[in-house]
Amino acid sequence: MQRLLITGGAGFIGANFVHHWRRARPDNVIVVLDALTYAGNPANLNALHGAAKFHFVHGDVCDGDLLKRLFREHHFDVVVHFAAESHVDRSIVSSEPFVRTNVLGTQALLDAALTAWKPDFRGKRFHHISTDEVYGSLGRDDPAFTETTPYDPRSPYAASKAASDFLVRACAHTHGLPLSITNCSNNYGPYQFPEKLIPLMIINALTGKTLPVYGDGRNVRDWLYVEDHCAAVARVIERGRAGETYNVGGGAEMANIDLVTMLCATVDARFADDPLLAARFGECPAARGASCRDLIGFVADRPGHDRRYAICADKLSDEVGYRPTTSFADGIGRTLDWYLANETWWRDIQRGAYQDWIKLNYGARA
Ligand code: NAD
Ligand code: DAU
Repeated sequence: MQRLLITGGAGFIGANFVHHWRRARPDNVIVVLDALTYAGNPANLNALHGAAKFHFVHGDVCDGDLLKRLFREHHFDVVVHFAAESHVDRSIVSSEPFVRTNVLGTQALLDAALTAWKPDFRGKRFHHISTDEVYGSLGRDDPAFTETTPYDPRSPYAASKAASDFLVRACAHTHGLPLSITNCSNNYGPYQFPEKLIPLMIINALTGKTLPVYGDGRNVRDWLYVEDHCAAVARVIERGRAGETYNVGGGAEMANIDLVTMLCATVDARFADDPLLAARFGECPAARGASCRDLIGFVADRPGHDRRYAICADKLSDEVGYRPTTSFADGIGRTLDWYLANETWWRDIQRGAYQDWIKLNYGARA
């Protein structure tokens, strides 16, 4: 029986990971620490609130006293650190929260783990969730990022994540902390906050709003279905070597405009199959037999927009035996179905400060 501290467990990937781990190991104790920023949503853990062996703590990962108390009370074996400010566009508007949570929060968490665990690290693991963005940007024909690609972060978000990776590595080197790090590509799936490309485009398509494609739409990302990412992280925690970094990719590189076009076709097809959708989403072009492609609009580019990310995940498959199993076509269909089935979830978000962000980010690009 293990005891886990999962930071950021009310966010998109964190919540998916909590559900994933709970399904696989229901006897484990899970403590979620989450500050419930705009992206954290207690509803993402609705099935677990009040359940045995599950504790939700509303708190800040920068709060060292709180962290030390949680370690004393729960005797964690494993820390899985998701908590972060995660949206590149927001880091361009204001980088301070990114340095605070991503850098200082990681440092506070490392200090608490060392205080609790040192000098006997047997049976312990500190798993840090990082990103492919720390490696920089690739040209069209460059080879994919490997774990030894030099760091070259180019947005305030990526720089703050790179700093956090270095703090975790330094802590392992200096104090012997048993770390593992995963650097993954763009996740998509249930519970993703609709400021990110795929949920934003789904919701805008359903509500008949412009699908705002930055720049020329030829920037390339590699798309990883969130459930595959969670399975990879679980496998690394259990089988990955301490002290190692593993890249996790989806094997689905795509230009943004191609992705949005494919998403439009998927929405169009759902409306053709299910006449009830037209009654629910009358503003969607597919409700009147037109295509969601009509909503695509090119808008001003993201400053410093990284051109291409690509992941070589051979180390993950060779050492821990994991490869993603969800194709992009399957994953995007499942994601669309989740947003169709959870309209209340995203309508509630739209009623909050979300509209302020949409006005700020897209007003400036019009
Ligand atoms: P998210 O923004 O959906 O969730 C982040 C969570 O962290 C939220 O629940 C938020 O409330 C919480 N949080 C923020 N500041 C906090 C603080 N000071 N104290 C405690 N909790 C705090 O992000 P996500 O997309 O789920 O990303 C999770 C992790 O994965 C991040 O570390 C991110 O850098 C990394 N990552 C994400 C992607 C992706 O495609 N989404 C890809 C690679 C890596
Ligand atoms: O690569 C991993 C990273 O993926 C994670 O570390 C980040 O936390 C996560 O947010 C994501 O970063 P991106 O910047 O790649 O994701 P985003 O969804 O914001 O954008 C994906 C691509 O789509 C990117 O090239 C910008 C473009 N885009 C995005 C938005 C929100 C648009 O063209 N229009 C949009 O409205």
